[in-house]
Amino acid sequence: EFINEVSGFSVLEQHIKDKLLLDHVIVIPGNSDEQDWVKQEMGKACVQFLQSILKSNQTIAVTGGTSMASVAEMMTPSIGAKNCMFVPARGGLGERVENQANTICAEMAKKAHGEYRLLYVPDPLSEESYQSIIGEPSVKEILELIRDAEVVIHGIGDALAMAERRKASDLVLNKLRTGNAVSEAFGYYFNNAGEVVHKVRTVGIQLEDLFQSNCVIAIAGGKSKAKAISSYFKQGKSNVLITDEGAAKEFLREL
Ligand code: BG6
Repeated sequence: EFINEVSGFSVLEQHIKDKLLLDHVIVIPGNSDEQDWVKQEMGKACVQFLQSILKSNQTIAVTGGTSMASVAEMMTPSIGAKNCMFVPARGGLGERVENQANTICAEMAKKAHGEYRLLYVPDPLSEESYQSIIGEPSVKEILELIRDAEVVIHGIGDALAMAERRKASDLVLNKLRTGNAVSEAFGYYFNNAGEVVHKVRTVGIQLEDLFQSNCVIAIAGGKSKAKAISSYFKQGKSNVLITDEGAAKEFLREL
């Protein structure tokens, strides 16, 4: 059923794959800016993709966000792989609890009959607390799991929309505006050229760590995210994109 639904988009998928040099692209019909079910379908596609690649005993690091929440919503035990471990990719980023990576990773683990570990870090984190927190044995143990994750799944957001959602300070908002920030992922904010304009200080996955994992899945859709997607991929090393028709067509139009 899934194959039939998306087969009409194989040309669109191929185009994006070629432009962004990715291994896999899945485009869901519709525009998630306008229809909520499109986000759920992206979540379902992500779960189906996981079914095809995930192996037993692997670790999956996940971010927060509403797109990721839809992956958690669609997660099922039929994922196949056994004893998988779900971990939050990064610590607190200022999100509401339902959008936090901790919440999402616990829900995914429950539905997939896997395990999970959580990261409790204050948010935002001062340089001083950062240094002492990464020295805590319990945090260290989780950070190692996160860094060794075989699969990473994350959202991509519009920079200012994300900063506002996270109630960023005026100082940060100004920095993002003057730096022309366009996209956000993992608490990193990027400009059009993919340069990092600002980074939320927290523990967990750093941009450089993405080079090590060979399965980094980005999930982001909606016409309004086309610019953010293209900005993120100038730098981001994700190799799979799950998106929708709204974002895909707008992305190709803007090239
Ligand atoms: C955040 C992720 O939780 O969600 C970001 O850390 C991403 O990487 C953002 O930009 C996207 O949120 P949404 O709700 O648009 O999927």
